[in-house]
Amino acid sequence: MSSGAPNDPVPFGKYYLLGLIARGGMAEVYRARPVVRSEAKPRLLAIKVMRPQLAREARFVDMFHREAKLAMMLKNRCIVETVEVGQHEGRHYIAMEYIGGRDLTQVLRRSQENQQHQPPRLPDRIPVPHAVFIGARIAEGLHFAHNLGDADGRLLNIVNRDVSPSNVRLSYDGDVKLLDFGIAQALMKFTSEIGILKGKFSYMSPEQIRGMPLDARTDVFSAGIILHEMLTTEKLFRGDTEFALMEKVRKAEVPPPSTFNRRVTPELDAIVLKALARDVMDRYQTASQLAADLDNLIAGYRFDPKELRQFMRQLFRAEYARELEDTETALTSEPGLPITISQTMRMPAATGRGMTPTDLVPLVDPAEVSAPATGTGGEPPPPALPAPLDDKPRGFWGSLFGKKKPR
Ligand SMILES: Nc1ncnc2c1ncn2[C@@H]1O[C@H](COP(=O)(O)OP(=O)(O)OP(=O)(O)O)[C@@H](O)[C@H]1O
Ligand SMILES: [Mg+2]
Repeated sequence: MSSGAPNDPVPFGKYYLLGLIARGGMAEVYRARPVVRSEAKPRLLAIKVMRPQLAREARFVDMFHREAKLAMMLKNRCIVETVEVGQHEGRHYIAMEYIGGRDLTQVLRRSQENQQHQPPRLPDRIPVPHAVFIGARIAEGLHFAHNLGDADGRLLNIVNRDVSPSNVRLSYDGDVKLLDFGIAQALMKFTSEIGILKGKFSYMSPEQIRGMPLDARTDVFSAGIILHEMLTTEKLFRGDTEFALMEKVRKAEVPPPSTFNRRVTPELDAIVLKALARDVMDRYQTASQLAADLDNLIAGYRFDPKELRQFMRQLFRAEYARELEDTETALTSEPGLPITISQTMRMPAATGRGMTPTDLVPLVDPAEVSAPATGTGGEPPPPALPAPLDDKPRGFWGSLFGKKKPR
């Protein structure tokens, strides 16, 4: 399976792959677009293709498809839109809207690198109002999923269980989107069975580490960890060994974020500590209560969500310019006709507001990509894996917010 490139679309069922975005533990994520495109509203998609290793497990495949169908019901501004679940030549995938931006792991890592840089480089942390806003949007997305009902209004009891910085995507337009919702349960279950759950413990709740029954409040705790880390630019739970780390999560002894960041007010400390209460009864009982408290604080900051857009474009200046260029190329390229990348790149600094990925990527009619996937159902030999384009954790600061991924 070839990954393609923005100027070299490679067919994959009813999609063209336009380059590898990243390779995670369980899947590869590609930039893509439908082969049959609606001229009026072209947009890019992200296709997450599961590793063949997972597809050997019939139970995983069942669960994956069931959960991905649930994910398609999650229509909320804070959750990435799942467009389709399918398979092509035995490779199981989900197609989602493409979010031009970076995940929160990358944002935290870049902030730390800027902190360490000599001479100092800005921005070197996520400003408090931005962090509070991101936390509120995460909680909003969680609340929506927790309260989703079926056609008869019965609660579906959706719990994410995998709320972590790598599953929060910040777009260059300032949107906050939860990723991997719906498929988290299948991924968590089977990755723990095949022993690659490692790296996930630092975002689990004490009850999750203990293997106890979980409800929405486990996601509240994980959102609390993310909030804490955004405010301190430090990992909250760390351990030299897996056992030591799990002990720390079990105890859930949390220093107030103001210990690390004097801009954090006592009010914000209290919110974070309540989200991170070890005992579920002392915690926020719903994600919406957490969202409401955070939104109340934001009102006092006079924060404009546009500031998050500026922050992202500033923190990833070169990557943003590349994103604009790649998006334009990816939307217009044709297979077999590699085109040269435009020399007339529009830089935001030079043109005021500049062109944004969503200027180029308006919403598309979902009917365009909702036809059933073709596929043989058989498992092809594992594809030759292309090298990831994404920046990978390097050195001390990288390893602090990076995750070890099995190769
Ligand atoms: N819809 C999307 N649009 C743009 N990028 C995406 C999209 N979905 C995922 N990504 C990016 O692809 C990368 C890999 O995601 P993936 O979920 O495979 O790995 P991960 O979250 O790092 O680890 P895990 O396997 O634990 O989920 C991440 O940087 C993620 O932000
Ligand atoms: Mg993920």
